[in-house]
Amino acid sequence: MISSSPDAPIGVFDSGLGGLTVLKSCLEAMPNERFVYLGDTARTPYGSKAHETICRYAIDCTEFLASHDVKFLVVACNTVSAHAISEIQSRYDCPIVSTVEPAVDAALKASKTGRIGVIGTRATIVSKVYQKALRAKNPSVEVVAKACPLFVPFVEEGIVEGEIIDQVVELYLSEMRGIDTLILGCTHYPLLSKPLAKYLGPDVALVTCSDTMAAVVRERLAQDQLATSQATQSVEYFASDAADRFDALATQLVGLTNVRSRHIDL
Ligand code: DGL
Repeated sequence: MISSSPDAPIGVFDSGLGGLTVLKSCLEAMPNERFVYLGDTARTPYGSKAHETICRYAIDCTEFLASHDVKFLVVACNTVSAHAISEIQSRYDCPIVSTVEPAVDAALKASKTGRIGVIGTRATIVSKVYQKALRAKNPSVEVVAKACPLFVPFVEEGIVEGEIIDQVVELYLSEMRGIDTLILGCTHYPLLSKPLAKYLGPDVALVTCSDTMAAVVRERLAQDQLATSQATQSVEYFASDAADRFDALATQLVGLTNVRSRHIDL
């Protein structure tokens, strides 16, 4: 059930670790709220799957979070945001925020030249969701998009720096000439910010959806009178596979503390 109680938790999900970058921004922005985080680590990566499969996985994740009576759904996955939002909304009548609009707003704010790069999973880039959303808001922007399918498996392996990563970054980003802003259109990619920034240099702004998304959630909760009045923040973590590994990487890569996820079968 989706709850309409202000004291109910906020549900956040992703295919794995990436959505933790969004959760982290939410924890900073909303110090009193309760959160339930689901990482579908058994089925990551979503970005190489077909539209129907992504929709099915997204519904499974939503169903699980709904069973925890969440009051708000944070889709912390660009791939799901690109493919399955209408599918989720047709089944669940709940306040929802996805990644695309917040990232697009942040990119249009950051770009001075209007030449914007977007990187994401294959499913996200093929959907053209970013290209369309950017041009809908500003028809004069020039968009260079590139799928980077190897990034997510590296992050899920805990490999976010070093020679191999530098080579893969070069492989994918060598076409990104003349951009002044790069949208990290996958929530795993902020964990690769260092090598990406090293390759692109200081004149290219790296934009993520996380902080803008967290601000949107906070505003919507206030508007809908759904913000909690309780004093303590908490997070319950769930992973559909390798929960111990998920916990270790959540701390090592994302800097979250006290992560003790429970294993669930979706
Ligand atoms: N972190 C997700 C995204 O933002 C999913 C990546 C994947 O599982 O391929 O697209």
